[in-house]
Amino acid sequence: MEKIKIGFLGCGGMGQVAHLANYVQLDTCEVVGLCDAKKNQAKLVATRYGVPKVYDSEEELLADPAIQGVVASQAFEFYTGTIPKVLKAGKHLLTEKPLCTYPQNGAALVELAAKTGKIHMVGNQKRSDPATEYAVDQVRKWKESGEVGKFKYLRVIATPGDWVAGASWAWQIRTDETPKDNIRETRPAGVSDEFHKVMLGIVNGEIHQINLIHFFLGEDFKVAYADKSGVLMAGESASGVPVTLEMAPYRPNQEWHESALVCFEKGFVKLELPAPLMSQRAGKVTVYRNIEGNESYTVPVLPYVSALRNQAANFIKAIKGEKRAPCTSADALKDLQIAWDYVTARGL
Ligand SMILES: NC(=O)c1ccc[n+]([C@@H]2O[C@H](COP(=O)([O-])OP(=O)(O)OC[C@H]3O[C@@H](n4cnc5c(N)ncnc54)[C@H](O)[C@@H]3O)[C@@H](O)[C@H]2O)c1
Repeated sequence: MEKIKIGFLGCGGMGQVAHLANYVQLDTCEVVGLCDAKKNQAKLVATRYGVPKVYDSEEELLADPAIQGVVASQAFEFYTGTIPKVLKAGKHLLTEKPLCTYPQNGAALVELAAKTGKIHMVGNQKRSDPATEYAVDQVRKWKESGEVGKFKYLRVIATPGDWVAGASWAWQIRTDETPKDNIRETRPAGVSDEFHKVMLGIVNGEIHQINLIHFFLGEDFKVAYADKSGVLMAGESASGVPVTLEMAPYRPNQEWHESALVCFEKGFVKLELPAPLMSQRAGKVTVYRNIEGNESYTVPVLPYVSALRNQAANFIKAIKGEKRAPCTSADALKDLQIAWDYVTARGL
């Protein structure tokens, strides 16, 4: 079996803990080289993870014809600069979430992916949690079969606690080198400092939940209401399904409480997700049916596979043409538009 050859552009905290640690364990790919703006850090990371080659610059990595796919885990304000370089070099690409900060800047990135014909997958890893895959598939089946009636309501709630959840975050290699600065994303004209600050918060945090809403709906939605404190956003899908997003109405210290409730007339699918860096564990799905008075619950046993591990596997499958990338840049652009509309609806 041919292994897909992967190069890493950026080996910071997420690059190491969320990505490299997973890619080096997949039998479908091979991490052939890496590059980080912190050159000494790059060498130390390559040694720890057994990566054979360290490139001196991103240009050198991108010029290597052996590399088929690039994982670029960098600060998202650099993506408007990095993404075009990788796509124009003819490499498939996985970037972290969000696509960038502003939908106005993201549109050109989506166009470029289409023009080059390369896969650009965005790291909204919750779509790759085996529990999410199961839940979304169940919802799709119910939409198609009508078995439990109409799709009535979608609620997503997230109350962040400890996002690391025992993963080896503190074990990451971090040198104190000062790398040369990258090209940063420009702010669209007329955006105030306050709008920018709130936008950064939403595209960094809530973008995961907005992305999940789009995944369950399988269609667009519009923001109808946003409370000023940032706890509640309500919307309506293209086919009229009401949607709510509740963000951090309380704060746990340790636990991570995040769920989606997808309601039909005669049943629901409930998805519960673990902390983002949780390893070796999927979320939980509960399927409830109430058909002609017969009520039942189904709770599938899912594999010991985390969202981030499965996301890595999904990127490789997408490169091989075995599966659609769970979140393309075009999907992620829709999330940025919702984030923009959400901030606007808050009156900022
Ligand atoms: N998916 C999630 O749940 C989740 C959680 C946290 C953070 N993130 C995202 O992860 C991204 C990275 O976060 P992080 O904490 O790893 O940041 P980080 O600063 O620790 O790592 C980024 C690394 O990229 C390197 N770098 C920057 N530009 C480079 C270039 N042009 N070429 C090579 N290397 C370059 C930096 O030197 C640094 O080592 C952010 O965009 C953030 O939004 C996602």
